[in-house]
Amino acid sequence: MANHPDVKALFEPKSVAIIGASSSPGKIGYSIVNNIVNDGYTGKIYPINPRGGEMLGLKIYEKLLDIPGEVDVAVITVPAKDAFESVRQCAQKGVKFLAVITSGFSEIGNKQEELDMVKFARENGMRILGPNIFGYYASKVSLNAAFGPGGIKKGGVAIVTQSGALGIAMIGRTTVENVGLSALLSVGNKADLDETDLLEYFENDSDTKVILLYIEGVLRGDKLLETLRRVTRRKPVVVIKAGRSTRGAMAAASHTGSLAGADNVFDAVMKQAGVMRAESLDEAFAWCKFLSNAPMPKGPNCCIVTNGGGVGVMATDACEKYGITLYDDQAKLKEIFSPVTPAFGSTKNPVDITGQAGYEQYSKALAAALDNDQVHSVLALYCETAVFSAETLLKMIVDNYAKYKAAGKPILFSIIGGEKIDRTCVAVREFQIPVFPDVYQAVSCMGMLYVHSRTATAPALKAEARTLNVAHVKETIAKAKADGRTFLLPWESKVVMDECGIRMPRNLVAKDLADAKAKVREVGYPLVMKVASKDIIHKSDAGGVKLGIQDDAGLEKAYNEIMTSCKAYKADARIEGVELCEQVKLTTEIIVGARQDKLFGPTVMVGLGGIYVEVLKDVVFRSMPLSRDEARKMVSDIRAYPLLKGVRGQKPKDVEALVDVVLGLGNLVATVPEISDIEVNPVVVNDAGQGVVALDVRILLF
Ligand code: ACO
Repeated sequence: MANHPDVKALFEPKSVAIIGASSSPGKIGYSIVNNIVNDGYTGKIYPINPRGGEMLGLKIYEKLLDIPGEVDVAVITVPAKDAFESVRQCAQKGVKFLAVITSGFSEIGNKQEELDMVKFARENGMRILGPNIFGYYASKVSLNAAFGPGGIKKGGVAIVTQSGALGIAMIGRTTVENVGLSALLSVGNKADLDETDLLEYFENDSDTKVILLYIEGVLRGDKLLETLRRVTRRKPVVVIKAGRSTRGAMAAASHTGSLAGADNVFDAVMKQAGVMRAESLDEAFAWCKFLSNAPMPKGPNCCIVTNGGGVGVMATDACEKYGITLYDDQAKLKEIFSPVTPAFGSTKNPVDITGQAGYEQYSKALAAALDNDQVHSVLALYCETAVFSAETLLKMIVDNYAKYKAAGKPILFSIIGGEKIDRTCVAVREFQIPVFPDVYQAVSCMGMLYVHSRTATAPALKAEARTLNVAHVKETIAKAKADGRTFLLPWESKVVMDECGIRMPRNLVAKDLADAKAKVREVGYPLVMKVASKDIIHKSDAGGVKLGIQDDAGLEKAYNEIMTSCKAYKADARIEGVELCEQVKLTTEIIVGARQDKLFGPTVMVGLGGIYVEVLKDVVFRSMPLSRDEARKMVSDIRAYPLLKGVRGQKPKDVEALVDVVLGLGNLVATVPEISDIEVNPVVVNDAGQGVVALDVRILLF
């Protein structure tokens, strides 16, 4: 394969050809040339059309090969039937990047032509953006090679979008919302270049301060995650993903599979990678705008300064939701704010400078917060009052923002009121100052700044090294596969569990009742009896499990009942006998699963276990590799975590041993690709220091 061209040629092309340029306004081939010209592209523009002539003051070349100079980028706007031929000509001309606007490829089932086109392009040293895109914008050379609106504002936000129509709409919104762009790319079918390639460019692009991704589907999920983990340490990455529905097809395989709806996993792994997921375009733009200008806070302490108690309480709630630490040193707060707070106000955080506060009081309070090193960020709230005019409010915000900006301390404003305040909001935005008519939106922006600050300063991922006798596990799997099975039998699963260092109850298999009676002392009462059959996977459903067997009489009764119900459940099931297991005292039941996620590779899940796992859905996902700290965080993220810490006088449970199970199963799936799913449910977590016992394990193979 030929060497890849330098991606700089895509973002800073010296020349652009438009193959399919049209003189008919209304055609895509016209709009693109028009935008390139009007938005002031600094390089050479070569419209191509067999008719020749002129358009928009430019010479139209009949063929690409007629162009005298080099062509860095070709934008293809000819119908699908002619697109490949244009790509061939680009190869002859030595074009570096192709932006293929044309639709009619894999999105309508025409996959092969798309594959062939990409293969050909790559073999000839070219890369393709698209096909099926609306084009792209690159601020460095003022190139608007898209058929969206013109007049794109330059700035620090880079947008990559999979949706065409929404992408075009985004261009319009960026002008309304005053969001400046460093680049905007439509990736369409992502036949060649995808988000990951572009992220790699933005990572080192000094003009790009924040990256916004709109994703519908992910192709190289593992590579995307790896890149995001790196990029988010340098720049904030915001994602909007369409489709929160679950992947029904996986429902049957395991709880882990059915709970791992595409969105649950996506949400979890993005968060893990430090990506911020926005719920709406408005939210995403608000975050991007703020993050592209805000200085990093030098510490966690945030102060709310308000003229109204209610709005202060709302902001406090929002701070909790977005993980913002409100500065809480009461003595220090009093020292800072009492000189600027009326006696009937409050120096507690939120600092209430009361409804009588005007320009002077606000400025003094904000100056006090600015001057103190223990206050690292400020949320300034204002509710409309008759004592503080909208005009003075504008001045107060502009003056104080300038001081914060100069000092490198983040501040944002939320101002609430009627028409005049709305107008002030618009006027303040003209100064590129973060101001919101809604407290939650303001706080969410500050919350995202802290997310980024934590991600950027977190220690580098130190995946926990674990030993595993992979050869032994693979040997066990190979035998099962030779037997035509895609799952392991209980005793095979036990081999795998032993290798992972996860304790299971004592157990053995008895081929019939007499054998069970002979062997029962090796396990001891009380015990659990389970049917042993290759043909019965859901043993409880088949009546194949009996608990609490206390003596020989109970053993015989349980055996007979299991045989009767299993035969009734599946008459032709081959029954190898019964499993006799040590009965473990059930305390706190947890589920731990690991699987090869189709998009993101090895992932792990931990949550509240037992039979209601799919009803309660109290589960948490992460992708591998995982540090021990992150595995601990996973466990503490489940809602039922207080049960593990010990409630109502119970002793705390052995969380560290549970963390070992999470890491052990994750590591297993990451190192043995033959395993598709492994699930332990329940894992009984004993008191601290007493370890865990895995009661039931299911291992599924590819
Ligand atoms: N070299 C140069 N010019 C050529 C060639 C060629 N080999 N073949 C045709 N042309 C010229 C045509 O003569 C025409 O120019 P003219 O207006 O002077 O006659 C021009 O190229 C365009 O060709 P048309 O046949 O008129 O095609 P049309 O403009 O109708 O459509 C297009 C082409 C836009 C690429 C269409 O096939 C298409 O794919 N449309 C969908 C694009 C799209 O939606 N992309 C996804 C965006 S994202 C979203 O969802 C919004």
